[in-house]
Amino acid sequence: MKILCISGSPRGEHSNTFRLVKEAVAGITTAERGVSVEYIHLGSLRMEFCTGCGTCHRKLLFCPLKDDVAPVLHSMQEADAIVLASPVYINHVTAQLKALLDRSSPFIHCQMLTGKYGAAFATSGGGPHAMVLDYLKEYLVSCGVQYVGGVSGPMSRFDTLKEEARILGADLAKAVKSHIAYPDQLSYMEKRREFFKSVISSRKDEWKGEYAYYNKKIAGFKT
Ligand SMILES: Cc1cc2nc3c(=O)[nH]c(=O)nc-3n(C[C@H](O)[C@H](O)[C@H](O)COP(=O)(O)O)c2cc1C
Repeated sequence: MKILCISGSPRGEHSNTFRLVKEAVAGITTAERGVSVEYIHLGSLRMEFCTGCGTCHRKLLFCPLKDDVAPVLHSMQEADAIVLASPVYINHVTAQLKALLDRSSPFIHCQMLTGKYGAAFATSGGGPHAMVLDYLKEYLVSCGVQYVGGVSGPMSRFDTLKEEARILGADLAKAVKSHIAYPDQLSYMEKRREFFKSVISSRKDEWKGEYAYYNKKIAGFKT
């Protein structure tokens, strides 16, 4: 079982949110044997902002920007479970995490992360947290990832958050191992596929990479 943990905090190993992720990983490794864990600290990577050039839609996921993002996207494709973590920065995820997600739009257009499971973590001084977790859930489910849950809260509740993170880690391991299905999320994914099927179809001469991927992966797409 491969677990990928992506931290959007600029504070590396000292990050409160990352410490919460480590608790979740302890929950995973207690529940399951043979787990491999990869940690990515976005704050230590060279990352450019998406320029909206559309190359990734034409040449599936290829980006002309020369930085450290491609290996992160590759790791996301290889993982069985993806953990996204961010401190709350002015009511949202950090710019580091948002910059990464902006570079991954073919994941959403083609639900390229189908079959994986995910979880999200956020810490703050006081809030708001729910909208940050909602955002990360929406991102993951849009990519085809079934969302097992999230833990978020202010640092004043850190001891409780740690316990919740351990439980969520164990739940995440169980979901991967037992292929647990979340019917509401699966039916939402189906609706999104229909939507992007028509979007990509209408731009098939331009978005050749995404059109080819859809044709190969999703039966009955040809129009
Ligand atoms: C630029 C910046 C913006 C922040 N914005 C918020 C906020 O909107 N709400 C909040 O409750 N805390 C806010 N905080 C506090 C952090 O969310 C909090 O300290 C968090 O636990 C830091 O996580 P980290 O150690 O993982 O980086 C902010 C901190 C910084 C540096």
